[in-house]
Amino acid sequence: MPASPRPPGALHLDDVARLRCPESHGPLSFEGQAPGGWLREGRLVRADGGPPWPVRRGLPWLYRDAQVRGTDRLMRHIYDRLPRLHDPVVKYTLPVFQSGGTEAELRDGYMRRLELAALRPRPDGAHVRILEVSVGAGANIGLLYRDLPPGLQVELWGLDLSAGMIAVARRKLRRQPGHHVRLVAGDAHRLPFPDGCFDRAFHVGGIGGFHDPAAALAELGRVAVPGSPIVVVDERLDPSRSHRLGHRLAFRAITFYDDDPRAPTDELPAAALDVRDEQVSRFYYCLTWRMPAPSAG
Ligand SMILES: C[S@@+](CC[C@H](N)C(=O)[O-])C[C@H]1O[C@@H](n2cnc3c(N)ncnc32)[C@H](O)[C@@H]1O
Repeated sequence: MPASPRPPGALHLDDVARLRCPESHGPLSFEGQAPGGWLREGRLVRADGGPPWPVRRGLPWLYRDAQVRGTDRLMRHIYDRLPRLHDPVVKYTLPVFQSGGTEAELRDGYMRRLELAALRPRPDGAHVRILEVSVGAGANIGLLYRDLPPGLQVELWGLDLSAGMIAVARRKLRRQPGHHVRLVAGDAHRLPFPDGCFDRAFHVGGIGGFHDPAAALAELGRVAVPGSPIVVVDERLDPSRSHRLGHRLAFRAITFYDDDPRAPTDELPAAALDVRDEQVSRFYYCLTWRMPAPSAG
């Protein structure tokens, strides 16, 4: 019998073992319809008997609406209304607003910090895992596939607060059948994954609008394999250059929700190692760091 086709962005029943309840941190199990093994409709049930998490039209919902506050709620509203515009707007307006510096140059500037070429098969035989927090419409997915060592077995995971953005990412995956990302609706402040689960974890473009960047950075550090590079990219006006009024106005317009757009170096976990703060274009910084191995005893 032919294998059932993989719906774009879907999770398989086997993937449920990789999820954790973002409230209790306990394991989850799936109840519901999973044609061909792909989660479709149902719920993720908590071992502690707490309220389950729904799976609707193949998308696991791993955050509670009532807990989305302040700027997060505003940003979700905006991204849910205009998801198809995001990627074209970035592509065509960024070089104009920055007076040069294309989207491709910006993205290449941070992709190298993920050190993807250094990834090797896991000694336990499990797939290498990569997580993008705030995956949006999936603009980084093709770059991950471009830069990964050929033949390496990799599991890509993408999480976002906006179902609208996830829907656009799914459409993109449908057009690229060789690419697969497991997509979940979740909140960067409470990631639904176990500690040390991902060989690479990164975030691009949203943290300036998070209500608690320190909590989101702590979560990235928690789910990353100790010693692996963790990359965060967002807006900051390059402090080493002079800017015309037009640059300042454009920058203000795209960061209207943030009083002080900057790299959150002072909000990194206290144990963060090898912190590198660099500017990757006129409007964007890239912050890279690693978490130490937990001390024995
Ligand atoms: C500027 S887009 C960037 C998308 C993608 N990373 C890229 O590089 O094109 C920012 C994304 O952050 C997401 N976001 C905002 N607040 C979030 C939160 N609290 N948790 C997870 N994602 C969030 C938005 O829904 C949006 O998709």
